[in-house]
Amino acid sequence: MSQRPAILVARAIFPEVLERLRQHFEVSDNPNDDDWSPQELCERLQGKAGVLTTGAQRIDTALLQACPQLRIVANMAVGYNNFDVAAMAAAGVVGTNTPDVLTETTADFGFALLLAAARRMAESEHFLRAGRWDRWAYDMFAGQDVHGSTLGILGMGRIGQGIARRGAHGFGMRVIYHNRSRLDAATEAECRATWVSKDDLLRQADHLVLVLPYTPQSHHVIGAAELALMKPTATLVNIARGGIVDDAALAQALRERRIAAAGLDVFEGEPRVHPDLLTVPNVVLTPHIASATRATRLAMANLAADNLIGFFTQGRALTPVTP
Ligand code: DGY
Repeated sequence: MSQRPAILVARAIFPEVLERLRQHFEVSDNPNDDDWSPQELCERLQGKAGVLTTGAQRIDTALLQACPQLRIVANMAVGYNNFDVAAMAAAGVVGTNTPDVLTETTADFGFALLLAAARRMAESEHFLRAGRWDRWAYDMFAGQDVHGSTLGILGMGRIGQGIARRGAHGFGMRVIYHNRSRLDAATEAECRATWVSKDDLLRQADHLVLVLPYTPQSHHVIGAAELALMKPTATLVNIARGGIVDDAALAQALRERRIAAAGLDVFEGEPRVHPDLLTVPNVVLTPHIASATRATRLAMANLAADNLIGFFTQGRALTPVTP
């Protein structure tokens, strides 16, 4: 009988990564990428010592109690708000994420959403596809300039810094940010970024990008009151997590043109999208794809696999998030 640890790969992933895992483990997987309920996930986890998850599988006390053999959960995501970290630590279960490998790709996408929203690319494309373009007009889809404007960043971790560098060095933007802790002077200088209070960030930014982790404290950190502080010409971009923005309040602010535009890659309760967001024209909507290039998603899957392999073969996960 094999002594290799049994693991579960909870979502479909790259076949080559699955193959790597099979060299070390008894692997059960989800080839059809079925959407398992928490109950089904628990059932499939019976007898498994490790699991590769995406950000969509909740790892909480109920699951940990039902799966006492579980020792490690390797998320294929940098965000890990699907983990109850305290419960995992109490149960002695290691959690890991996939930092760094997605930073530049995600920052690229944040900037793409910013440009698309500020320059009204989705809205004008729909207009063209609908056959409504019959002539040039001086004010047709006039948006907001990105170059030379003020870029605000809420949450200044690795991805936030990547966006700051793009804005400052590529688009000549003045960069302001708000974060719980200030960056050191060298990193601020490299990003050409200035720390400001959250209210100043909201008031001064021409374009505001959200890149903070989702926690109980960051729930609806952008709601009606915060949107009211923003410029009527401002763009809001969320590539962090759904729930950070109050989507209903945002839809209303967009409809009433209290801010000019938004670009959203993440949604409260996704994959459902607040119906009001689907009917306002001045928002660009994408289905949580900020890290989705083949190279980056492969690197994320490999890092999640390396965490499992490192944990079971060397007793050390590479990128743990649990204490
Ligand atoms: C992440 O890595 O956290 C991305 O949002 C993909 O889930």
